[in-house]
Formats: sequence, structure tokens, C-alpha cells
Amino acid sequence: MRYPKTKMFLGLIAAAILWIVVSGIEPDRADAGLAPVSTQPGNGAVLVIGGTRATGLEIVKLLRARGDDVIVLARPDSKTADAESTGARIARGDAMNPGDFAAIFAGGGIRAVVSTLGARSLEGPRPDFEGNRNAIDAAKAAGVSRYVLVSVIGAGDSWDTAPWVAQQFLKNLFPEKTRAEDYLRASGLAYTIIRPGGLLEKEAQGRVYLTPDTGAMSWIRRADLARLSVQALDDPDAIGQVYHAHDPDRTRFWSIPLN
Ligand SMILES: NC(=O)c1ccc[n+]([C@@H]2O[C@H](COP(=O)([O-])OP(=O)(O)OC[C@H]3O[C@@H](n4cnc5c(N)ncnc54)[C@H](OP(=O)(O)O)[C@@H]3O)[C@@H](O)[C@H]2O)c1
Repeated sequence: MRYPKTKMFLGLIAAAILWIVVSGIEPDRADAGLAPVSTQPGNGAVLVIGGTRATGLEIVKLLRARGDDVIVLARPDSKTADAESTGARIARGDAMNPGDFAAIFAGGGIRAVVSTLGARSLEGPRPDFEGNRNAIDAAKAAGVSRYVLVSVIGAGDSWDTAPWVAQQFLKNLFPEKTRAEDYLRASGLAYTIIRPGGLLEKEAQGRVYLTPDTGAMSWIRRADLARLSVQALDDPDAIGQVYHAHDPDRTRFWSIPLN
């Protein structure tokens, strides 16, 4: 009787850890200042795939705040009020439909793509590879070369860096992100791949940075990830790079400060 109880206990611990990792819940705490974003809007619009919510929406807000023309891909039933309130343009479509991207790029005037495409559910089909593949193909066909992809720590050569719990529960996510990364790298586009670890809500802190160290793993806030994505978009030195978004103060989720 002792053994099943121990297993149940360990299972509950693992479930609790996973819940903390994927739910993005974090205790309140005072914030350090947000480092200013680069203000180099180029010519043409930025297409944000995933810009309806979460990290993608934060990217849209930053781009719009500095005057970039932004197009947000939104599925027919996606909520778009938040993105629209920034002044971003909404392009209705589904990343799983190649024709939808062809139509968006046919409008012309897009200079870059930022993709935070993902799915909340850990079950079922995911858009991470197929959706990005469709976007990459369409961008290439339209002559749009800049592509910033938000991936995940655990993809590609970073599998060993992902926490054990993530390796167990995100088994269907890591291969999808790996395929998307590989496809983008082979595409010939001017890519930047940014891998976050765990994502948390709340406002940016500004302590997070991009590192090429594929052994770096931490928990960061979506607003910080957004700021780093915009900085990478502007930075010619970021082209052809794979980065981990890293907060050295939060390398273990239990190291998240309580105040
Ligand atoms: N959550 C984490 O802890 C975590 C950790 C590491 C990496 N990541 C990765 O980081 C990125 C951002 O994650 P997040 O949690 O901030 O955002 P998220 O909640 O995963 O948002 C995903 C976005 O993709 C859109 N989307 C999904 N399927 C689509 C489709 N078929 N066509 C068009 N749009 C579609 C969603 O639009 P709708 O509004 O229509 O749903 C939403 O805007 C994702 O790539 C995620 O995989 C997440």
C-alpha cells in the first residue's frame, strides 16, 4: 500500500510543478524599470502572427507605441479588440491555411514577420510547425526576408536544457518547435530564433537578455520577451542567430521572488 501512495504523491508534486510552469502565475513583486526599446521602425509593416494575445500582443503594443505599421493575423473567431485598440491592422486568416498568408503578403508593404504562434492546449494538433512553414513559404515567395520566431527552450539542441518536468509534459511541443526552427534556418530568410523557458504574466522588468548560451534556462515575463523580440527585429547582428531569453535571477521557478 505504501508504494502506490508514494507514486500518487510524486504525481501530485509533478502536476503542481507543471501547473506553475505553464500557467504563468507569479506572486506580486516590485518592478525594476523597463529598458527602452530600440526606436528604429523600418519601411513597411510588421506582420505579427500570434498578435491577438499574450506575448504577441505585447509585441504589437511595443511596435505600435513607436509608430510601426502592424498587421495582426487573427483567426475568424479570435478576439481582436486589444490588438485593434493599438491601431494595428487585422488580417483575418488561419496560419494553417497557406492561401491566407498568400493573400496577406499579396497586399504588399510587409517588411518583416514576427511569429509567436502557439497553442494553449498540450493536446491535439499544433500550429507551431505547419503554421510557421506556411508563413515562411509565403514570406519567401513575397520577397520578405526578415523573420523572428519565438520558439521554446527544449527545441533543437536545447532539449537537455529544458527542465525534466517540461521534457515529460511537452513531448508533443518540442518536436514541433524543432521542425519550425529547422525549416526557418533552411529557408534562406534572415531569421532570428528566440527561445524562452517558462513564461509569466505581469509587467516587464528589463533584467532579461538574449544569450547564445543554449544551456541558459529561466522563467521570464511575456512583456520582457516582447521587448527582446522587438530589439532582435531591429538588430542586424541578430540575423542568423538562435538566442535563449534569459533572466539569471530566475533559473529555478522556486527562485521567483515573493515580493
Ligand atoms: N506558455 C509558455 O510558458 C511558453 C514557454 C516557452 C515558449 N512558449 C512559446 O512562446 C510563444 C508565445 O507564447 P504565449 O503563451 O505568450 O502565447 P500563446 O498564448 O501561445 O498565443 C498563441 C497565439 O497563436 C495564435 N494562433 C494559434 N493558432 C493559430 C492559427 N491556426 N492561426 C492563427 N493564429 C493562431 C493564437 O491566436 P488566438 O487568439 O486565435 O488563439 C495566439 O495569438 C509561443 O510560440 C509558445 O509556444 C510558451
